Amino acid sequence: MRGIILSGGLATRLRPCTKVTSKQLLPVYNRPMIYYPLNTLIKAGIKEILIIASPERAGDYLNLLGSGKEFGVKFTYEIQDKPGGLSQAYIIGENFIDKEDVIMILGDNIFEDDFANAIKNFKGGCRVFAKKVPDPERFGVVKFDENKKVVQIVEKPKEWISDFALTGLYITDGRVVEIAKSLKPSGRGELEITDIHNWYLQRNELDVEIVDGEWIDAGTFDSLLRAQILAKEKLQDKLII
Ligand code: TTP
Repeated sequence: MRGIILSGGLATRLRPCTKVTSKQLLPVYNRPMIYYPLNTLIKAGIKEILIIASPERAGDYLNLLGSGKEFGVKFTYEIQDKPGGLSQAYIIGENFIDKEDVIMILGDNIFEDDFANAIKNFKGGCRVFAKKVPDPERFGVVKFDENKKVVQIVEKPKEWISDFALTGLYITDGRVVEIAKSLKPSGRGELEITDIHNWYLQRNELDVEIVDGEWIDAGTFDSLLRAQILAKEKLQDKLII
């Protein structure tokens, strides 16, 4: 399976700290933020990793991470000219994905869990990971019926539908590239990741696992502070790079 770390974006909510650097390069306790999602992929056994960054910051990632040899993996770099949405990553990554299964993680998502098993027993379709949160309106949200079957996935719902947020880690088969190419931009001008998930859901090919450990989307000052504390108190002995 191939891995993608999506590390572009504007990070407007962390201004002015992100005026001259990228959010995913800010320190989270004793490492640059991107080291945490990198740890998640490398610990899960992924050896080929595509890093997608903005044109302004791509050079910084290359300087920081290099070829990957140091970590026993191989990095490839691509540029996202403008933040056109999470699904655009699959179009940018078409050659890299090369019709194989792919796991994508957002560069500002920090997980305590290990995903090695979820990768090992993936048999096609799409697998996403949900977590009960107090602020679901910030995320894509997944609604289950009484049999714990997924009935609906909605991006940042205005009306409450469920407490389960979709975390920023997605496993898909190689069809994802063509699905991404078929999407139309949403009202906010982005190719939405939820549209890909709903494509698989409509065909009964989506499954959702629940994340047991802590998960933080470190995109706001408060969640970044929580991420620092999580990193110091719980993650240090789990990190391999
Ligand atoms: P967001 O946090 O939704 O967006 P952002 O990072 O630009 O921040 P803000 O809302 O404060 O302006 O993005 C989630 C992750 O996905 C983050 O790691 C950045 C990345 N991303 C891209 O790389 N390209 C994109 O087109 C988008 C929308 C996000």
